[in-house]
Amino acid sequence: MSESIFWPRAGLGNVMGSSGGIRVQWRSEFESGHPVIDAQHRALWSLANELADRVELGRPRTEIDPLVAEILEEIEAHFATEEDALQRAGYNGTAKHADLHQDLLSEARDLVSSTRDGGEPSYFCDFLVFGLIVGHILGEDRKYFGRLNG
Ligand SMILES: [Fe+2]
Ligand SMILES: [Fe+2]
Repeated sequence: MSESIFWPRAGLGNVMGSSGGIRVQWRSEFESGHPVIDAQHRALWSLANELADRVELGRPRTEIDPLVAEILEEIEAHFATEEDALQRAGYNGTAKHADLHQDLLSEARDLVSSTRDGGEPSYFCDFLVFGLIVGHILGEDRKYFGRLNG
């Protein structure tokens, strides 16, 4: 998997005033130290990038909708794995973290539903970048990094 992914249109480029998007590097500090969780985080990162690429390239809905559905399933599986790992580790923020997951899942399901109904898929891309990756994985998740046993 590439260490460097490109966000061609999913929000960040616009915020930073660049129509060409930016390249986001995966860095070692994004690793929690739990191998399964880290593999899932990287997979979500990669899947989100793949979706952004397809949206940017104007690929047909037959190539967008199944990927959107797959990403939602990966998010659901990841959250379940992470909550289990946090609980096993006795992390005292587990319940609060699970609540954050529920809020994200609710938003993700709404966006996937509207995308499936023909809505613009870039909204889901933006959610993946800002809500899931930047806001949660690189924000809230980092609070437990280094505190889980692999
Ligand atoms: Fe996570
Ligand atoms: Fe999380």
